[in-house]
Amino acid sequence: MRFGKKKTVAGLDVGSSSIKLVELGGKMNSLSLVGLGFENLPDNTIVDGQIMELNVVSDVINNICSNHQITTTHVVTGVSGHSVIIKNIVLPPMSQEELEESIDWHAEEHIPYDLADVSLDYQVTGETADSKSVLIAACKRERIDNIKQAIQLAGKTPVVIDVDTFALQNCYEINYQPDDSQVVTLLNIGASTMNVNIVRGARSLFTRDITVGGSQFTDVLQRNLGLSFQQAEAVKRGVMDGTEGIEENAIEPLINDVTEIVSMEIQKTFDFYRATTEDSNVVVQKILISGGGSKLAGLAAELSRRLELPVEVLDPFRSINVDARKFDPDYLSEIMPEMAVAVGLAVRGVELR
Ligand SMILES: Nc1ncnc2c1ncn2[C@@H]1O[C@H](COP(=O)(O)OP(=O)(O)OP(=O)(O)O)[C@@H](O)[C@H]1O
Ligand SMILES: [Mg+2]
Repeated sequence: MRFGKKKTVAGLDVGSSSIKLVELGGKMNSLSLVGLGFENLPDNTIVDGQIMELNVVSDVINNICSNHQITTTHVVTGVSGHSVIIKNIVLPPMSQEELEESIDWHAEEHIPYDLADVSLDYQVTGETADSKSVLIAACKRERIDNIKQAIQLAGKTPVVIDVDTFALQNCYEINYQPDDSQVVTLLNIGASTMNVNIVRGARSLFTRDITVGGSQFTDVLQRNLGLSFQQAEAVKRGVMDGTEGIEENAIEPLINDVTEIVSMEIQKTFDFYRATTEDSNVVVQKILISGGGSKLAGLAAELSRRLELPVEVLDPFRSINVDARKFDPDYLSEIMPEMAVAVGLAVRGVELR
């Protein structure tokens, strides 16, 4: 242990297809990139959000750290998917102590799990004379224990377990400094989960995690074209090596079917949001996409066409100082979509120092 020296806390995003680690330095208004690592996980290491191979995950975390000279031992990580429940609830006015005492009781009716099995967190997001808005986030305890175990096995200390969709929002806020006139949808398309977060300025209006993502495209290609996982991934990414003989025109309709599902799920989320919002004048102006799944050729344009909204790529390094001698700009722009959640987790890490 290094006494007297402030510990740095990195952001560690354990995704179902790869692990990303980001370390930021500096102050909140002038952040700089200190460390970055990104490595794929073998297929089926994480299934349905559950880490099946704890050793594989911890080995990959260690590889990332040793390959990129990242020595920090403290990390913020995140959870997402259907074991995470996020709700905005409106309560009568009450003191902080009263809220603290009654939060479990209030949360109970909004969370479809036994409270004994979840870890609950909350935050007051707004207050008027006759109401208090509270954002509650709950995650199945077994999910948290599972990710903590993998991180500890790698010799790291998970200091905070955040929620991916909020990390995404943190990443957006720090990079775009939005004001209240800006209403955007943050859309992170991972391998198995899409995080949708409708945000006004720095406030989340609605979030939904959908268990659809890039791996669904791979699955469909794999099953219908009789390919291995690696071959289907290559076809999806437009790298046709080793997959000669596959009819080019067999691919497109398969991809389109999944794109339609993705688009319908986002549309459904917008419909849910509109049905539950008190302020129907708040109109989403654009979608900022991230996640490896968003790199599928033509997907952004197709979503824009179907959802009738501009779609832009979220830049997780937009306001972060990056030393081009240490981090290759070409590589960085290539992996930018995958790094959004990890940057948001790292921002949380800086706040903790
Ligand atoms: N060039 C590309 N074209 C198409 N898809 C791509 C490309 N690059 C990466 N992907 C897909 O992106 C997905 C991985 O994205 P990401 O790293 O954001 O997911 P993850 O964080 O591992 O998963 P999750 O958050 O869902 O657990 C995979 O399905 C992968 O096939
Ligand atoms: Mg992810």
